[in-house]
Amino acid sequence: MRDAAPPDPAFRADVLAGLAAPIPAIPARWLYDRRGSELFEAITRLPEYYPTRTERALLERHSVDVARIAGTGDAVVEFGSGSSAKTPILLRALGPSAYVPIDISGDFLRESAAALQQAFPGLAIHPVEGDFMKPITLPREVAGMTKLGFFPGSTIGNLVARTAVDLLRAMKETLGVGAYLLIGMDRIKDVDVLLRAYDDAAGITAEFNLNLLRRINAELDGTIPVDAFRHRAIWNDPMSRIEMHLEAVRDVAFTVAGQPFAMRVGETIHTENSHKYGLRDSRLLLRAAGWGLCQEWTDPDDQFVLILAQAEPQRFAP
Ligand code: AVJ
Repeated sequence: MRDAAPPDPAFRADVLAGLAAPIPAIPARWLYDRRGSELFEAITRLPEYYPTRTERALLERHSVDVARIAGTGDAVVEFGSGSSAKTPILLRALGPSAYVPIDISGDFLRESAAALQQAFPGLAIHPVEGDFMKPITLPREVAGMTKLGFFPGSTIGNLVARTAVDLLRAMKETLGVGAYLLIGMDRIKDVDVLLRAYDDAAGITAEFNLNLLRRINAELDGTIPVDAFRHRAIWNDPMSRIEMHLEAVRDVAFTVAGQPFAMRVGETIHTENSHKYGLRDSRLLLRAAGWGLCQEWTDPDDQFVLILAQAEPQRFAP
């Protein structure tokens, strides 16, 4: 049976180009269909996946410090708000007058905005449906307000350095000079700890990765034998990142949208990057995009860092 919805032309283009590339790769955003998003939610609850609960604990502990430095803040602007799961912790400490969640998924956005409105009846919520990779014009209601950008979840880790800097610059343009940014980043750590977090014993991350093949088969008329692939998580040390791949366990041939593809045993499709940042790496990344460091908070094992930065004015000289 076919899906009622027509295939997404951007998904089709990315998959066909990605599979035909010399190093096969498909952008990570396509992992997050409905099932993929559910599987990612399940990942965040895994014992091996430390980032979510570590960041949550940091927020619970230090949101009051954020308020002390950044002020109780007029408007909180969240980038890629998704289900806004960690937002209440911050909103309770800051008590801002407005909240602007930005997300590409309009449905998701309205659902979570409605849920949040229940919990914070006095808060003015202005959802913006859009791609935050580009500068966004904020709703006029928050025009004159001091802004605190919020970008949790180490989502920045999905991006290679160049794109991450582009995004941080776009955020600066969206929020304006003087605005604050509270961002979560995952630290470089013991490789075994990292690998376990991205290749869990219960196989949820494997299912999350393989779901991309199921999605291709369902939405793009694919004939990929899913059992011919296995999930691989590898640590790429020179790039400081965990990579997720789908590796062919035997020679395999299939079609997608009528186009033929063949892979040899051992060849992989690269599906996601998760960059990790050392103490000075995270600072450099922010500085490269015009964000000055205000404060950093980490857990006792330095697994994850919450960083507060401020958008610096353009300087005339060094
Ligand atoms: C949503 C990008 C933060 O990189 O840790 C988790 C995605 N992929 N397990 C991450 C992910 C596999 C996650 N981010």
